[in-house]
Amino acid sequence: MSAQVVIVGSANVDLVTRVERIPGPGETVTSESFNVFAGGKGLNQAIASRRAGAVTALIAAVGSDDYARVLVDTVRHEGMDDALLRREPGTTGTAFVTTDATGENNIVIVPGANGLLNRLTESERDQVREADVLVCQLEVPNSVVEDAVTTAREAGTTVVLNPTPVRTVPAAILAAVDVLIVNEHEADQLRVEELRVPCVVTTLGSKGATLQIRGERTVRVPARKTIALDTTGAGDTFVGAFAAEIARGVGYAQAATRANVAASLSVEEHGAVPSIPTRQAVDEALGLERVEN
Ligand code: RIB
Repeated sequence: MSAQVVIVGSANVDLVTRVERIPGPGETVTSESFNVFAGGKGLNQAIASRRAGAVTALIAAVGSDDYARVLVDTVRHEGMDDALLRREPGTTGTAFVTTDATGENNIVIVPGANGLLNRLTESERDQVREADVLVCQLEVPNSVVEDAVTTAREAGTTVVLNPTPVRTVPAAILAAVDVLIVNEHEADQLRVEELRVPCVVTTLGSKGATLQIRGERTVRVPARKTIALDTTGAGDTFVGAFAAEIARGVGYAQAATRANVAASLSVEEHGAVPSIPTRQAVDEALGLERVEN
């Protein structure tokens, strides 16, 4: 079965430590806990899409070290095909994540195998062509993002770009984007109001989100009250859940509303992948009865 949502992006192993307060330069603090989780923006978004109910494929790269196995097992466990995970010699992408008592975090990334994902193969391009929605982020080289988005554009696959970690996005990539999803800092840094993208979704953390379709008025997506334990992966949860919704044919505003609820649930638990909610959990938070399909 071809995937409804294809994600081209990073897969990391997250080495997560929890501290009361994130240390400043030259300062040492003692950690309260340490965990190893599957992560990476591509993998997190793929799991969010999958748990939201979409048939999802992840095109990514892992290394030849022991951490690769953690990521391969996670992909399989979530019901996705690990055949699209390339095995490269060397280290798997690694993220050093520090979270504090307020739920905030800082992250240092070692790209490892993610940096070797330069181009798609012809069969990977076919996956993109057959999908309803393609999602990319920027933890992999621009060359593979450009390859994926231009392939999608030519085939009529909807392109969602989450331009994070933020850097200047080449014009050839932007020209192929249907929906740009940014947080408020990225919106400022990229001056999104000057970009000619058909739809911009800006996530605002505890304040919800906005959705701007070019030439139309801004739609406000309401916030859901929550107590944030760990915000790691909340943006990825939003992106994956949004992609799954639009792949089902749901309109952008309604998709953003549901994605926002999914993201708000994800901050209530620790870790990126462990906290991504299922479709059922989002239905329950929305007060909906579960509908099987
Ligand atoms: O967005 C959260 C993710 O950023 C983490 O899982 C980490 O791997 C980094 O890529």
